[in-house]
Amino acid sequence: MKSEPPGPLPRHIAIIMDGNGRWAVARGRDRIQGHRQGIEATKKVVKAARRAGISCLTLFALSTENLKRPARELNALFDLLRDYIKKELAELIKNGIRLKVIGRAELLPKDLQKLIQDALKKSRAGEKMVLTIALCYGGRDEILRAVSRGPGLRKNLSEKKFGILLDTSGIPDPDLLIRTGGEFRISNFLLWQIAYTELYFTKTLWPDFSSRELRKAIRFYQTRERRFGLTPEQISRGVGS
Ligand code: IPE
Ligand code: IPE
Ligand code: MG
Repeated sequence: MKSEPPGPLPRHIAIIMDGNGRWAVARGRDRIQGHRQGIEATKKVVKAARRAGISCLTLFALSTENLKRPARELNALFDLLRDYIKKELAELIKNGIRLKVIGRAELLPKDLQKLIQDALKKSRAGEKMVLTIALCYGGRDEILRAVSRGPGLRKNLSEKKFGILLDTSGIPDPDLLIRTGGEFRISNFLLWQIAYTELYFTKTLWPDFSSRELRKAIRFYQTRERRFGLTPEQISRGVGS
């Protein structure tokens, strides 16, 4: 019999969904087919996270840097996003999932912005899980926007107050960050918020990521001892918790 992992579930999981292009190229297909298959993985993982009792799931869907990709690829990504919202919103609402978007949504096509606004409104009563989609998002860009939003910031500045100015305000920092696709980098995702996040990297390309792999990442998290700079002895005495 498998022994129970010792630690608690992560409250917040963030995912860098990478590897769609390589998944397609490896099959002699267009990169866009990889993004399409990536959406299928996204649907499964959202459901699996909700079933596992995760309160917050944040998905990196498009970075500020990705906006420099060829127009054909970007337009295909926008089409897939439109389709995802149109087809999945009812299911999200039924499952008590509240949608949130972080990043510069104003850079998206107007109709998509409208669709998103409507989806945010319609799903706002969801209490089981917050699904945050990072779109036209960059961690540095988010920090700069936060600074420009708080002109009187220098007075009594604290980490807590600064956090309120970020796009992720109201959402706890991620406990676990997963990156698929085999790269060991952060690529401008949630730079402020991941100060003490546990990191999980897998070679699996995003379209192949499954609920089984999500459970594996959660088990990895549950075996970590989070010390937040303290000594193991302090942790066992419950200092800081
Ligand atoms: C991640 O997959 C999705 C987006 C960045 C939109 P990629 O498109 O980066 O896939 P690879 O890394 O080229 O395989
Ligand atoms: C990170 O993947 C962005 C998303 C998954 C949305 P990239 O493919 O853009 O990152 P790099 O270029 O490998 O760093
Ligand atoms: Mg990539």
